[in-house]
This record gives sequence, structure tokens and C-alpha cells, in this order.
Amino acid sequence: MNTSILKDRSGALRPLIHFTSQKGWINDPNGLIYYKGKYHLFYQFNPYGTKWDKMHWGHAVSSDMLHWRDMPIALTPTENYENDQEGGCFSGSAIEKDGRLYLIYTASAHIDGKLEQTQCLAYSDDGVNFVKYEKNPVITRPSFADPDFRDPKIFKHEGKYYTVIGGNIEGDGKVFLYSSDDIFSWKYEGILFSSEHRHGWMLECPDFFPIEDKWVLTFSPMSSPDRKKCVYLIGDMDFEKCSFTPEYYDDADKGFDYYAPQSFQDENGRRVMIAWMNRWLWMPYGEDWGPTENEGWRGALTLPRTVTIRDGRLEAMPVSTIHSLYTRKKTEGITISESKPFTLKRDKSCILGISYNDEDIESGVFSIRLFENAALTFDLVSGNAIFSYTADGKGIMLAPLRKGIKHEAAIIVDGSAVEIFIDDGFSTISANVFREYDSFEFSVPYKTAIIQAVTIEE
Ligand code: FRU
Repeated sequence: MNTSILKDRSGALRPLIHFTSQKGWINDPNGLIYYKGKYHLFYQFNPYGTKWDKMHWGHAVSSDMLHWRDMPIALTPTENYENDQEGGCFSGSAIEKDGRLYLIYTASAHIDGKLEQTQCLAYSDDGVNFVKYEKNPVITRPSFADPDFRDPKIFKHEGKYYTVIGGNIEGDGKVFLYSSDDIFSWKYEGILFSSEHRHGWMLECPDFFPIEDKWVLTFSPMSSPDRKKCVYLIGDMDFEKCSFTPEYYDDADKGFDYYAPQSFQDENGRRVMIAWMNRWLWMPYGEDWGPTENEGWRGALTLPRTVTIRDGRLEAMPVSTIHSLYTRKKTEGITISESKPFTLKRDKSCILGISYNDEDIESGVFSIRLFENAALTFDLVSGNAIFSYTADGKGIMLAPLRKGIKHEAAIIVDGSAVEIFIDDGFSTISANVFREYDSFEFSVPYKTAIIQAVTIEE
């Protein structure tokens, strides 16, 4: 696999294994698919500047979901239905049909000054060059829905194609369901989920997928009253009646930077999810995007995570290919103690592995400082990990610990991207942490918590 993509990306804040574009602005992951022996990742992309503007679909391919190779831009807004400064080729998804790769995306435009969002198709036989379907759009907004009508996520179930689409009716967020026998002509099935003013006025980037005998709905709510950034619901689905009955609901991630995730099946049929590791300025904690703009890029994607249901909740761990990245000679890790800190240079990446038993932490609480402006505290009394980041007017986020086990956490520090996996995926925290110093010493003030550090290398 050609990994030159990593070498083309410079800057002290650049992650090594989290996807970033060589230059420009990126947001949502789009069109994730395993197609003809390769993983394809598309993403919302402004190649001309480090701010959101007229959206294109960037494209990269990989064989391990960690080392990505840049491909030519897949979708450029050229048609009347998608071509204005505030518009473009918005988020969408991918599916393979008869050997052909189809992308379904939102074409966003202003026609006579009014927002017009329709769902369109593009296709490719080589996975590189895409042609827009000549009869676009394939889905137009129903008259009862308000103009924000976007982000189709396509899937196949029992021989039929479906897509969920995010939208709203009179300012209340909805997820709409459509069905099709051929992906070209679509039938409106109904409202799969209604916010009922609990989740915000618009539900962006819905995804709907099965795990075992349950269905999982994820979406990113705009202006959620309880300040959630991205939620999931687990429940039962009756496609005949277009009726989804959720049984459980929670944040998809407990950190500051996790939005618009999309899932797909890897080559072994496992459900893998990738999110945009940043936020909009209208969101809670959305004051700033940080200083990466000085390095010519803005926006990263989370590591691909394998998601599973355990005890009725969604759990997530990085895809297993990550193990191949540990420095071979250091596979065992360096054990960190007060007298033996681990020094990490700003342009290096590492994984810190923590393990402890509740009864060994006499005070019931211990903290690990993660650079000069962030810390992770394990509070065994309240049963939470507490992530605090003092820069950018942020604050703290709570992530519950699993009860009654030996605890484990993996902290992946990769440039400015920090992802924390607690108790084997029970809780996750994604956050950008912009370090100022050229190097940092990790140390642990408690003998009873074992911390090991492993350097990540290409
Ligand atoms: C979510 C989102 C989508 C839209 C895209 C535009 O982050 O607002 O709803 O399709 O970004 O870039």
C-alpha cells in the first residue's frame, strides 16, 4: 500500500493515523464502503480554503482503514441543482449494485433565493471517476417537509433498498424513510423518527443499521435542548409499518469533538463507524476550530471504530488493524511511573494503556495530565471518567465507567487528535487537544494504576 499520503502532510498538529486532508477544510465522512477490495472514504471537502465553503466530495482509499491514499476529487458542484456558493455536494452515502459503485448525496442550492435540497446519484465502475446520473434528482422534498432535507444514508434490507434522510417539519427534527427496488425511483415510506422537540429542530446525517436482531439509529441534532452532539437509539424496526421503537438512547461519544458519524460493513461484515472529529460553531463548545489552519488544514476524522451492542448499549473500539502500528520493538510498552515518566514529542503519536482495580485506588480518584491544558480523572466514587480541557472556553465531559471489573483505558494521542476508549469501549471520548509545548512528560502519581506507553509509527 502506498502510504505517501502521510508524508505529504506536514505540521506539528497533524495526526498520523487520523485522516486529514492535505489542505483545505473537511467535515463529515461520506460514502464509506468496502468496494472491489479497498476501503473507500469520501468526505465533505473545501479544497480551496480552511473554512467551510461550496462542498466537494474528497476521496481516499485504504487497505487497513488507517493509511489512506488520496484520490481525485469525486464530486464537484457543477450542476444547477447544486451549484451556488452556500451549496454544493452535501453529505451522503454509497452502495454497490451490480458491480457498480453508486453515491447518493444531497445537492444543495438556492433557487430564487430559497434553499432547495434534493437527493442525487453519481456512479463509477472503476471506483475513481464518477458520473452524475442524468435524471437527477432522484428524491425531491415532500411538500410537508421544511427546506433542510438532506444526508441520505442508503442500505439494503431483505432485497429492497432504503434510505433515511434528515429533515424537519415546522421546526421539529425528523428522520424520513424512503424505499426503492432499483435505487433510481423512490417511494416515501414515512417518518422513522420524530424529535418531538426533545432532540432539536433538525436531525443531520442520520444512519440506520442492524446489529444482531436490533436496529440502531444515529443522528446529529441541531440545537438539541440537552446539548447532545450526536446520539444513538437502539430498538426494534417494523419496515412494513415504518415503525421504529427505541428502547435505549445515549450519546454516541462523550467528548467535545464527535459529529455526523457514518457506518458501513468492513470486509468481514463488522459494523465500523467513522465521525467528523470537530464541530460547528453553533454547537455547544463550538467557540473555535483551533490553530491547525496555520498549517493549511482543518478537520480530522475519528479512527474507524468497530461498534457492537453489549447489555443493550452501543460500544466502540478502534478497528483491530491499529495493533499493527505499535512499534514492533516496543510492543510490550514502557511502564510509566513517577520516577520514570514517558516523554512524547509534539509531532509524535502514542497510545497510553491504563489498568487498575477499584480497590487499589485508595482515595477513589486519580488523574493523568494530558498536556498542559487537559486531564483525564478517574472518579471511582461517581463512577465516571472526567475529561477536562481548559482551552477554547471548553470544560469537562463525563464518561461512565463500566461497573465491577478491572478497569482499562486506552488513550490514543495522535497529533492534535485525542481519542479515549474506556473499559473496552463502554465509553469513548473524542477531543482535539492543541498542545503548545514541543514535548510533554506523562507520569502517574499512583503506583496502583499501571500505565504503559507505546509509540505509534507508520
Ligand atoms: C453536517 C452537515 C450536513 C451537510 C454537510 C454540509 O455536518 O451540516 O447536514 O450535508 O454538513 O457540509
